[in-house]
Amino acid sequence: PPPGPRGNLAQQIWERLPRGVQEVLERIQQAYPEGGIYVVGGTVRDALLGMGGPDLDLVLEPLTVFASQSNHRRNRLDELARQLVGWFGGSFGLHVAFGTARVKLGFGLEVDLAEAREEYYPHPGALPQVRPSSIARDLERRDFTVNALALRLSPRLEIVDLFDGLADLEARLLRPLHPLSFVEDPSRILRGVRLAARLGFRFAPEALAQIPSAVQPEVLAQASKSRLRDELLLTLGEASATRALGLLAELGVAEPMFGMGASPQVREAFAALEPILQTTSDPEAAVAARLYLLLHFHPDPEGFLTRYNLPRRYAEGLRHLRFPPEDPDDIRKFVGLPEAFRALHPERALWLLTPRRMLMGRDLLEMGLPSGPKIGEVLRKVAEARLRGEVLSYEDELEFARKLVSDA
Ligand code: CTP
Repeated sequence: PPPGPRGNLAQQIWERLPRGVQEVLERIQQAYPEGGIYVVGGTVRDALLGMGGPDLDLVLEPLTVFASQSNHRRNRLDELARQLVGWFGGSFGLHVAFGTARVKLGFGLEVDLAEAREEYYPHPGALPQVRPSSIARDLERRDFTVNALALRLSPRLEIVDLFDGLADLEARLLRPLHPLSFVEDPSRILRGVRLAARLGFRFAPEALAQIPSAVQPEVLAQASKSRLRDELLLTLGEASATRALGLLAELGVAEPMFGMGASPQVREAFAALEPILQTTSDPEAAVAARLYLLLHFHPDPEGFLTRYNLPRRYAEGLRHLRFPPEDPDDIRKFVGLPEAFRALHPERALWLLTPRRMLMGRDLLEMGLPSGPKIGEVLRKVAEARLRGEVLSYEDELEFARKLVSDA
């Protein structure tokens, strides 16, 4: 099809989409030539930044909105979800009440489908109500201009940029779509912080200007706690969490939102945690470990846990973090706690968390190493590896020693 205005850019986005995503979109273009289907949000933003995200977000305009074909009313959401699974295998779940569907395709791609809708807020900070609408109204309710870009699939590939999101993306600026955006939903500040820390974006002056009114106690009291909590946990799970924490403090958000100031100790503890997290591949442990550190330095951790309805086990784990137990099992049974413990008490962690059974001279003799100075040398190297956290168990130490012996 001939390129529309900005067709070249649309083509560029297309070319940056992963092959699997392109195949899915080609099928949709063929099956829905009448149009009204758009790629939106993070998928478009990340493609423009040259980084492929893991999922695909699509918005479908209700037929009654985008064309006067009301006699043709069909539930395209349900239909498209089924078709995707028919074409590529996989499974889907439909949430009729929300007008959304999540499809997990056979080759691993997750596709989120949503009917275009507009939101209205019964009162500031409340969870919004939604009703079906056009793509323009759907984009207009979003958080930042860079997230309000869309790619129209048919009748031709076109970029939809109603709020100058392309220019902001170029300048790496986070600009809310309207002056009450953060007051309506203060969790958007956290989303911005996450994007700023992850992608090196900055808050535009208008964004900075609306933060103070959005973190007033009466606004936060009305705000959805579960959204704030979810955004905080997502932030703690990112590789750039330490930067995000600094930004929260700089923007004056950490204190009113989470009841904690910009304590340099928290930042130091976050920084000390970084290398420790590199030895675990459990994303849940990273979130939990950082949360433990926040709680440890929080003036009222119990209040914080209650306010954000976080699991009670954090309070229990926190006690072991503050008053280290004699038994390492008390620490090990809490996800993330051993990592937080090592970041806070490196000396103590060494003897508490190092496995009791350690490599000994006898093990080396059994390996066939003759008695002599070599034994002491190997034992010393194993101890150093233990200090660096490279060997975490007796089995690790045995293997490490075997390598040393065979390399010698
Ligand atoms: N959104 C919003 N306000 C929120 C949450 C989400 O306006 N409190 C909008 C954003 O514009 C976002 C879209 O809803 O683009 C979808 O949200 P989500 O799926 O959480 O984000 P993604 O676009 O997938 O991007 P990311 O990679 O940042 O998660």
